[in-house]
This record gives sequence, C-alpha cells and structure tokens, in this order.
Amino acid sequence: MHKTTWVEFNSKALRHNANTVRRCAPHAAILAMVKANGYGHGAEWVAEQLHDIVDGFAVARPSEAFRLRKARPNDRILLLGTELNSVLLNDCAAHQLDIVIHDIDTARLLANTPLSKAVTVWLKMNTGMNRLGMSATDFADAHRLLSAQRHITAIHHMSHFSDAETEDTSITQAQYQALTSLSSTLGEVPLSMANSAAIIAHPTTHLDWVRPGIMLYGDDPTCTLAPEDQPLQAVMSFKAKVLAVRDVEPGEGVGYNRRWKAAHKARIATIAAGYADGYPRQAVDGTPVLINDQRATLAGRVSMDLLTVDVSHLADIKAGDIATLWGDALSAAEVGRHCNTISYELFTRITQRVERFYLPS
Ligand SMILES: Cc1ncc(COP(=O)(O)O)c(C=O)c1O
Repeated sequence: MHKTTWVEFNSKALRHNANTVRRCAPHAAILAMVKANGYGHGAEWVAEQLHDIVDGFAVARPSEAFRLRKARPNDRILLLGTELNSVLLNDCAAHQLDIVIHDIDTARLLANTPLSKAVTVWLKMNTGMNRLGMSATDFADAHRLLSAQRHITAIHHMSHFSDAETEDTSITQAQYQALTSLSSTLGEVPLSMANSAAIIAHPTTHLDWVRPGIMLYGDDPTCTLAPEDQPLQAVMSFKAKVLAVRDVEPGEGVGYNRRWKAAHKARIATIAAGYADGYPRQAVDGTPVLINDQRATLAGRVSMDLLTVDVSHLADIKAGDIATLWGDALSAAEVGRHCNTISYELFTRITQRVERFYLPS
C-alpha cells in the first residue's frame, strides 16, 4: 500500500488505556469521551474497541450523537451540554440518548415537552468553570421540576473541574464540595465530575461516573503517572514520508522567509506533512521529529504540505524514509509544548486528506 502522509491508530493501546482508567477508578462507572470524533481517533472505532470495557460514551453535538447511535444501537450515549429545542429533545428521546441539561430554561422546556420515549437527564451545575451549568438555585429548581416528570427515567448530577491537572488542589476540592453538598440535599442520585486529571490525581472525587477523555488516547495531563509502569500508551501515530534530502551551506536559510539558518554545513530532510495535514504552523525551530525512529528537530517554517527537519547528525537518511511527527516514542504532549498547544488540539486537527489506518488488536 502506497502511503505518503498518514495516521495509525492502535487498538491495543486504546484498550490498555481504558483498563488503566478501570484500575485508577475501580468503583466508578466509565463514560468514555468520544466527542470531536473520538478526539480525532474516530468515534465509532473507539466505541467499537471499548464497548466491553466502559459503560457508555459522551459526545458534544447532536449530529455526533445520532451518528454514534447508528453504530452503537445498544450502548449508553450522553449528549453533553448543547442548545436543545423541543424537536431536538424528541429526537434525543427517539434515539434513546441521555442528555445534559445545563440551564433552567431548557429544564422548563423539557418539563413541558411531550416526549415519545422517556429520557435520562444529567443536570449540570456550574461550580466555578463559568462555562456551562446552573447556579445552585436553578440547579435545585431544575431537579425538583424534572423529578416530578413521568417522561424522565432518571436524574444524574454532574459538574466539570476547571483545574484538576494543577498542583493546587483547593479549587478542585471547592468544586467537589459545591456539587456534592447541594446534591445531597436533593436526594440520592448518581454523581459525576472527574475528567482524566481528576481520575489520576484526585481519587476522592471519582463519585459514581468518571468521564475520561485524553487519558484514553494516551496523554496524562497531570504528568504524575510513573512512566516506568507504562500506564498510558499513544493510540495515534502521525507519520509521513521523507520526500527529499539536501545539503545546505553555512549561512543558507530553509523554507519561507528562511527562518532557520544553517550555522554549519547541514543536511535537511523535507517531509510530506504540513499545516494542511494538521501539523501546527506555530511549531518553532527545535520541535522534535523522529526520522526512522531517531530524534531530529524542525528547521524552518511549517508550510501547507511540507516541513523541513535538520538531520545533519543522522546517517543515511534518504527519500522514502519514515518520519513520525508524534506517536509512541514522541508524545503529542511534548510536540505540543513546542507549538504553544496541547495534545487535545493536535489530535483533533488531523485533516481529511490524511489517510487513516486502524491496526487490529
Ligand atoms: C464535560 C466533560 N467531561 C469530561 C471531559 C474529559 O476531559 P479530559 O479529556 O481532560 O479527560 C471533557 C473534555 O473536555 C468534558 O467537556
């Protein structure tokens, strides 16, 4: 098979990471985040690999939810906070989706909308993120209103941590207290707060449902899991072929505006990946790249279809060799640190023209 620019997805690594979530949160149910097309890994593929390990899936847009429902007719699917009207509420009910209700107006609309099938709702409280979620008063009102409805199967309570990956635990604790103390006055319902960082670093916040995203895809946002235990593995490897290798003289520049200049006689490999494939244009000179599994560094501005790498220290690099832009031996988190971004953004920005290869487990 002829490959120029491609991503490989490793099912074994994905399942390994999901089992790590299980080990970290042995008493909680797992809602795997597969929004944004499974963080760029393919939502349907991720769900297929994980359905026997996790307890459900969550997506952010109605279109993602309806598509996933087609592929997973029997799995639990939660539609996260979005705009809902009465038509959409009925579509959600017809597709047997759990839905997040994040404001009191939508709670009222739901109470007054006759549904063809009953739904489970997850009421979202704002505990400090100040993005989505209800105030304590609206949250309590929404709970009372919806618990009186026959077309509501069950109510869950949830919130989202803003700072779970940071060393200062006070904000996480305050958010946890805010949800759990209000929830306990409203009755006994399943609770959910923990994202990957909280699953790893704040075991006392796991509650009934954990919601791992990035750790399923191999990144530990807290950087606290011991690497020697191989707790998480890269699922996505972004690869491209070397198209050309050339020598440049001292003082010569490489790429647009000749941003990188050769201090000595240098050898440059040109790789078939650019920002139109999802490699970030913000990458600075010195960003690591693997060529034939050996470390080298970006030299020059990333262009639409190409990037250039200083391979002066590597022997025998030639056209047709393979560059790994991130993957097993070079984490997306490390690359992200050179591009002023995070693995989440790198994973979700791989573009359509890049070929996808799904490795069997
Ligand atoms: C509501 C909600 N829960 C859980 C997650 C998972 O977060 P992470 O990928 O950091 O585990 C996200 C992701 O942004 C989210 O929006």
